[in-house]
Amino acid sequence: MPKITINGKECEFKPGQMIIQVANENAEAIPQYCYHDGLSIVASCRICLAEVWQPNPRNNNALEAIPKLVPTCQTACSEGMVVYTDSPKSVANQKSVMEYLLINHPLDCPVCDQAGECSLQDYSYEYGRGVSRFEETKVKQPKKDLGPHVYLYSDRCIMCTRCVRFTREVSGTAELLVQGRGNQEQIDVFPGIALDNELSANVVDLCPVGALLEKDFLFSQRVWFLKRTPSIDGITASGDNIYVEHNQGELYRIKPRTNLAVNKWWITDEVRYSWKHVHSSNRLTTPLRKQFGTQVTSDWQRAYADVVDAIRGVSGGAAGTATVTAKATTSSRGKSLALLVSPMLTCEEAFALGRMAQQFDPACVLGMGPIPMQGTDKTFPAGKPDGFRMYAEKCPNSRGVRRVLAALGAKHGGANAVLTFDQFVAKIRSNDVGVVILTGNYPSEWSTDALLKALDGKFVVAIDTLSSRLTERADVVLPGATWVEKAGTFQNARDMLQAFEAAIPCVGQSCPEGQIAQDLMSLARSGTTNDAERARRTVVYKSAVQGALHGSSLAGVTNDPDSGVVGKEVGQIQHDLVQSLRMSFNVADVRAEMASTYPMELGVFATDVSMPKDEAGVEMGMEVVEI
Ligand code: SF4
Ligand code: FES
Repeated sequence: MPKITINGKECEFKPGQMIIQVANENAEAIPQYCYHDGLSIVASCRICLAEVWQPNPRNNNALEAIPKLVPTCQTACSEGMVVYTDSPKSVANQKSVMEYLLINHPLDCPVCDQAGECSLQDYSYEYGRGVSRFEETKVKQPKKDLGPHVYLYSDRCIMCTRCVRFTREVSGTAELLVQGRGNQEQIDVFPGIALDNELSANVVDLCPVGALLEKDFLFSQRVWFLKRTPSIDGITASGDNIYVEHNQGELYRIKPRTNLAVNKWWITDEVRYSWKHVHSSNRLTTPLRKQFGTQVTSDWQRAYADVVDAIRGVSGGAAGTATVTAKATTSSRGKSLALLVSPMLTCEEAFALGRMAQQFDPACVLGMGPIPMQGTDKTFPAGKPDGFRMYAEKCPNSRGVRRVLAALGAKHGGANAVLTFDQFVAKIRSNDVGVVILTGNYPSEWSTDALLKALDGKFVVAIDTLSSRLTERADVVLPGATWVEKAGTFQNARDMLQAFEAAIPCVGQSCPEGQIAQDLMSLARSGTTNDAERARRTVVYKSAVQGALHGSSLAGVTNDPDSGVVGKEVGQIQHDLVQSLRMSFNVADVRAEMASTYPMELGVFATDVSMPKDEAGVEMGMEVVEI
C-alpha cells in the first residue's frame, strides 16, 4: 500500500484519500471544522492547512515543499508525501484562524450548552493564542427558532456550513441557507419554511460550536456529567447504532454512533427522542396482583406465586406439585398456557420466555406481538437507494423474536408453531387456553379491543412497562424493563444481530423480562417456595448491585426488611451481591445456550453477534500544567 508521513508517522493510504482522512484514521490530530466524513468537501474554514512536501520526479524524486500551505481536507495523498501540521508555518496559520473565528464569537461558555464538547473551546486551548487582541465591539446576531427541535444562536456560528450541506446532501430537504456577507453572514431558513424533516436534529451533532442546539436538551445537564453507553435503537427495525447518555440513572439524550453499514453517521429524530417513555409517570414500577377482584401492589414473591399456581392449575401440574389456588379453578385444569412475545424484546428474552412456557406446558401456544408499521420505508435524500434509510416498521426485533420462537416451536414437532398476533388472538379465544402471559414493552398503548375481548375468562399475566387497558385487566402485572435498562441482542431489518448493554439501572422494582422468565423457570423446575424466595431475592440483590454500580448507597438495602438482608455486614452483603449476580439473567450465557441447544437454527448467536464498539476518538493530548 502507498504511504505518506504525517508529523513523522508513516501512514498507509488508499488512492483517492485526502490527507485529513488518513490522519483521522491514524489518530494524528489535525484541527477541522468544515470537514466531515459524511459531507462534501468545501475547505472553507482553513484551520486544517498544513505544510506539505512531496517528491519531485523531475528532480530525482527529491522532496520539495508546496509553496503555500494546503488544505489537508481537500488535498489527496500521493506516494511519499510528507505532511507537517506542527511546523512553525502550520502553527501560525492555526493561531490566526482561531483568532479570526473568535473575533465575533461571544465568550459565553459558562452558559453555552456546547461547553465541554465544543471544538472551538478545545482548539482554542490546543491551537489558539490564549489572549485576545480584539478591542472593538463584537457583532451581535439574533437567536432563531429554526424548527420543532432546533434553536440557532447565530453569533456563535463559525460559518462552517456543515448544517447547510447536511440539509442539501443528506436529508435532501434544503431548508437552510447562508445569507449576507462578511461579518453579517448568517445561517437562516427560507421564509415560511421551518427546519422540519425527519433527520433535522442531526445538524446539532454536526455543529462544531454551540450555534445549533437541541430544544429538548437545552440547559438540562452539563455534558461533562453525562456518561455514554454504546447501544442500539430500541424503537425501530433499523437497528441504528446510538449512544445513550445518562447521569445518576436518568437518561438525558441519545446521539448517533457511527456505523457505515447501518445508520452511517446519522439517526432520525424519532430514534433520538424515543426514550421519553423510560421515565414516564405511567411506568409500572412494582408488581401488581388481584386481591378480591381489586388490583393491589405486591411483592415479587406473591406475584410469582400467583402466576405459578394459575399455570399449574390450567396445565394439570405438568411441571410441578404446587397446590391449585382459588384463582385457577380445578375446572380449568388441562387447559393450555399461551405466551405472546413482543417484538420489542431481545432475542435472549424471547428464548428465556419461550423455554419457561414450554417448561410449564410443552404444548403451550406461542405467538408474537403486533408489529407496528407507519407508512412505508423512506430513503434520504428521497429516491436515492443507497441513502440513509428510515424503516416503516416501528419495533426493533420482530425478525429475532420470530427466529428464536420458530426454533423453540420446531423442537416440539411444530406443536407450538409461532402464531402471528391475529392468529394468537383467535387461538386464545377458544376454551382450550386457560392462562395467557402477554409481554408488551411498546412505548405506547398496544392492546386491541379484540385482544381484550379474547381474554375474557382467562387468567392474564401482563409483563409490561407502561400501565394500560391491558394491565388494568390483568390478574398479575409484572413490571418489565425498557431496552436501556437491560442487555441483549436485536436482529435489525438488514438481518444483522447487534448486541447492546444496559445503560441505566431499572426504574423502581422493574426487571428485565429475561430475568422474570428465568425466575419463573426456576419455579417451574422445582416449585418450592424457597425457590420463589431465592428468585425474589435475586431481583432485590440485582437492583442493589445496579444501585451500587451507579453510585447509590447500600444503606437502603440493608435497612429494607423486604430485602432479607437486615443487619448483615456490608462485606457479607457484597458477597451476597456477587453470588446473586451469578444467579441473574446473563445474556452471554443465554446466547451460548441458544447456540448449543439449537445449533442449526440459532448457531449464529455464537458467531454473528456484533458487540457494541466505542469509537476511538482522536485524543488531543492535553498536557498537565503545573500552577
Ligand atoms: S450553525 Fe453550526 S454547523 Fe451551521 S454553519 Fe454555523 S457553525 Fe457550522
Ligand atoms: S477542515 Fe479543511 S478547510 Fe475546514
